[in-house]
Amino acid sequence: MEDETIEYRLINGRRYHNLSNSMYFVANDDEEANRLSRYHDAIKDIWGGLFNSPVEEKLRQGARVIDIGCGSGIWILDMAQQYPNSTFVGIDISPILPSEGCPTNVKFVQHNVLDGLPFANSSFDLVHEKFMTGAFTETQWKEKIIPEMIRLARPDGWVESLECEITSSDESVTMRVTKALHDFMRLKGMNPTIGKEIPHIFENTNAFLEIRDQLKIIDLGTKHDKSAEESLKFYIGGLKSAKGFLANSMNVTPEDYDALLETIYFETEKHSTYCNQYRICAHKKIQI
Ligand SMILES: C[S@@+](CC[C@H](N)C(=O)[O-])C[C@H]1O[C@@H](n2cnc3c(N)ncnc32)[C@H](O)[C@@H]1O
Repeated sequence: MEDETIEYRLINGRRYHNLSNSMYFVANDDEEANRLSRYHDAIKDIWGGLFNSPVEEKLRQGARVIDIGCGSGIWILDMAQQYPNSTFVGIDISPILPSEGCPTNVKFVQHNVLDGLPFANSSFDLVHEKFMTGAFTETQWKEKIIPEMIRLARPDGWVESLECEITSSDESVTMRVTKALHDFMRLKGMNPTIGKEIPHIFENTNAFLEIRDQLKIIDLGTKHDKSAEESLKFYIGGLKSAKGFLANSMNVTPEDYDALLETIYFETEKHSTYCNQYRICAHKKIQI
């Protein structure tokens, strides 16, 4: 049995958390924080901004925003700079949150959201989450995370989600590794393609007046395109961050795993590899 008194564990030189109630299998070290921060500008380019909910005016006047699983905190810090009249909370289980020099309208909290979100009902105008597919089981999404996001949103407020998945041809190494990742996640009760199901899950809650969903398909073979190149590097970096678990589950040595990731980078043009990104913006009812 793992020793629960030890917060973190090291596997192949990468640091992972050591909590029995979280399935999260991606590293939580500086290298991972850099991977998350590096992708920030590309996401803004792909989506034409930091968010897609129609809350610009509210943010200018002064709104409250929470980012669930905020990672390195870069989205929060960018938002806080753009909207100085608003206040921002970033919450994440990993010790990769900025610890000093934060603007006064920002608060970061290290916390496991599976233990509930320590905020009052209806206390945020925008409740945001991004790239958390690997953090929760499908049941946790449906029974804990999405209900908590709805609880925190003010009536007339917005809940926004951005998730992604990779597709490639069956004979590619990309698909071999992606299938292994998906199998590993399914064994843990996770749904590796939850992003495209979130609109439906939102609909079933009956909490929203309107649900807007958008899909962007990024062709990872077009390396001359900066967003595509960064998306590919983000995916390979994520696989690298999951190596501590994935190499084992694929039954390959750490060195062979690295070689597979190298192949993924160079094969995208040949194998039509895409990153499908789903952004869902849902407008909470005034009365549920
Ligand atoms: C792939 S990262 C995405 C981070 C950030 N949203 C972004 O887009 O850059 C997933 C984040 O979820 C966090 N996370 C995973 N499980 C969590 C939990 N139970 N409670 C809070 N944060 C969690 C991880 O620490 C990690 O920072």
